[in-house]
Amino acid sequence: EGGWTGVNERTFIAVKPDGVQRRLLGEIVRRFEKRGFKLVAVKLVKASEELLREHYWQLRNKPFYSTLISYMSSGPVVAMVWQGLDVVKTARKMLGETNPADSLPGTIRGDFCVEVGKNVIHGSDSVESAQKEIALWFRQSELHRWESSTKTWIY
Ligand code: TYD
Repeated sequence: EGGWTGVNERTFIAVKPDGVQRRLLGEIVRRFEKRGFKLVAVKLVKASEELLREHYWQLRNKPFYSTLISYMSSGPVVAMVWQGLDVVKTARKMLGETNPADSLPGTIRGDFCVEVGKNVIHGSDSVESAQKEIALWFRQSELHRWESSTKTWIY
């Protein structure tokens, strides 16, 4: 089920162990909801080293790689898939830069962290990466398609 574009574009977002431990989940989810994106999958997971090695495959030769893997395995992460128009690019804007010191106030990293090695959140950097990451972290049955009901929920 790849090839999502337009309003059906999807991205993979993960609140990293520091974000979970600092109780930032609600604030982060709130920002994505209020921006107008649709949550199509979410779970709390203790990522295996195998999963993380696959996820960060392209960084395997970087000097910070082993520190990155142990930080990401230091506690559960909240893995999510968000859907909507231009969600990959917009989510990256909402996250800020990789280094929190370069991230503007108003972005998630710009508001909540200071260290590149503890930067609270992950977001896919392209539609292609998003497709790979979603397939890596989620089973097809965990991804939900839903529409806003026209029923009256509140009075
Ligand atoms: P990267 O994929 O380059 O950035 P992003 O997460 O913004 O897509 O790097 C992955 C993670 O590796 C990054 O979120 C934090 C960590 N990292 C470091 O610890 N030190 C560094 O110098 C870099 C570039 C990244």
